[in-house]
Amino acid sequence: MYPTRNDLPESARNKLVELLNARLADAIDLQTQCKQAHWNVKGPDFIALHKLFDEVNGAVEEYVDLIAERAVQLGGVADGTARVAAKRSSLPEYALRGGDGREHVAALSTVLSAFGKLVRAEIDRSNELSDADTADLFTEVSRGVDKWLWFVEAHLQAER
Ligand SMILES: [Fe+2]
Repeated sequence: MYPTRNDLPESARNKLVELLNARLADAIDLQTQCKQAHWNVKGPDFIALHKLFDEVNGAVEEYVDLIAERAVQLGGVADGTARVAAKRSSLPEYALRGGDGREHVAALSTVLSAFGKLVRAEIDRSNELSDADTADLFTEVSRGVDKWLWFVEAHLQAER
């Protein structure tokens, strides 16, 4: 940890940096999975899904940056290389190589949902460490992921 005039106690900052880095690894993993879907989707909904998956990727890239920079603001080091992300990620590997639109929608929904659950849990953990700002950051990311899950999953929800 680096010295900082940030007034949150070091013991709390230590734990916060640890949980930020855990979710950073997940977010980087998620971002690569969005691109995997963007590149490989096929079928009649190709252009809509190709564009949507890239939009999700763009949003996730912003979450990566928010999470990484919060870790550094708290005196930590952001561990954001591909190797570290691959080693630490809690997300399942993307389920597909090829596949049609419905299959990619299902695969990306699964991983968005898994990430959303992990991020939501960090809201409470950050609040327990008296860091309303990190809790707010995770709330923002969680709200965004819920929105993207809706955008993606809606493709499968026409028939109930
Ligand atoms: Fe592209």
